[in-house]
Amino acid sequence: MTAASEYVVKSVMQGDTRKDSLECVLAARLARQHALQRYRRRHTTAGKGPHFLRQGQGYLTFCSNDYLGLAGDPRLAEALAEGARRFGTGGGASHLVCGHSEAHEILEARLAALTGQPRALLFSSGYQANLGVISTLLGRGDVALHDRLNHASLLDATRLAGASLVRFAHRDAVDCGERLSSLATARRTLVVTDGVFSMDGDVADLPALAARCERHRAWLMVDDAHGLGVLGTDGGGTWQAQSLEPGRIAASVGTLGKALGTQGAFVAGSETLIEALIQFARPYIYTTSLSPALAWATLTSLDIVRDEPERRAHLSTLIERFRLQAAGLAELDLHLAPSITPIQPLIVGPSWSVPGSGGQGGQGGNEAAALALAAALERAAIWCSAIRPPTVPAGTSRLRFTLSAAHTLEEVDRLIGVLFDAARRLRSARETLTGGTSTREAST
Ligand SMILES: Cc1ncc(COP(=O)(O)O)c(C=O)c1O
Repeated sequence: MTAASEYVVKSVMQGDTRKDSLECVLAARLARQHALQRYRRRHTTAGKGPHFLRQGQGYLTFCSNDYLGLAGDPRLAEALAEGARRFGTGGGASHLVCGHSEAHEILEARLAALTGQPRALLFSSGYQANLGVISTLLGRGDVALHDRLNHASLLDATRLAGASLVRFAHRDAVDCGERLSSLATARRTLVVTDGVFSMDGDVADLPALAARCERHRAWLMVDDAHGLGVLGTDGGGTWQAQSLEPGRIAASVGTLGKALGTQGAFVAGSETLIEALIQFARPYIYTTSLSPALAWATLTSLDIVRDEPERRAHLSTLIERFRLQAAGLAELDLHLAPSITPIQPLIVGPSWSVPGSGGQGGQGGNEAAALALAAALERAAIWCSAIRPPTVPAGTSRLRFTLSAAHTLEEVDRLIGVLFDAARRLRSARETLTGGTSTREAST
């Protein structure tokens, strides 16, 4: 661990004292991150989720996106090895040069079928897929109309495209429609939404958004990174769970690194959309193709999604159990977000604010409480990261619990027990400090 001051000292010791030197400029930025308590760290793990080893200590993890528990499935490991033997570990070139293998081709057809679209196109990551779609569909003079809580990659993609970024209220199709009316002079308008919202776990109302788009001749793009494999009778995603005709979505993005347990992403849509992406999407054209071995392994993921619906059923049972038990945490001003998906955020209420710590990085201490709760869970060998601004809006710091079909009911019970215990202890420590204001009084 390197403290902020160490960066500054280090750059001075290296004789680099010019204020505009790279070392000094970056050291100052890093020091600011520390001061805001927003310095991000990585933890090196061994083993497979949800049971990771970190520095020799075992953790039960509730923060991965491996919703179906496939990332550690031996059948995928076997398929990956077989794919590597048949096609090589790396693509060796971009898809348009000689990096497009039979494994990619078959996977694209399977993904198109799963999402109910005519065609699909693989990308190396969801971030790149989003950049590819938006920069192909929009340019200067165009508008991307985003749900307020859309994923950062969608916002970055809009900036890259040079299009105007307008937001509508979260999950509010009426507001989306009103904004579409006022944007009638835009050259082209793309309405963009997550299917399942990554930090909140709630779900977009796709039929309502599709209706607004059709009325205003706008195009609809759905990033279903967290819905694919999880929602819908076949794991087709949010559109399937909401019985939406998939043709009403112009561009559908899915990722392979979450429920499917591998890595990469795809865009699904019409024949014309896919051909246009192949011609014009720079994040598709100017990069090495996704590993063909991974593409081959992902076919096994799709087999499991199709053949083992009991994974989704078990996940639903876990979600229900977690929500039933965690609802009681509201007494301690810790609130479950309204989510039916494996993403189950627990939002720290205002009464956890530390008096006098408002403002910088604190929103009255709400962030500090999220961090303290995560640290208390860690002491009990449970790993769930605190999510704070700027990833989520100020005042809504949270623990973002994610459930996986690889968890057992007993593990969810253990999480709940530890969570109540940690919250009660922190609460009473806090009340001792502040002179004993009760939770109910403080939160009204
Ligand atoms: C909604 C959403 N879209 C896109 C991405 C990016 O996908 P990838 O990790 O494959 O780059 C993520 C998270 O990683 C996400 O949560």
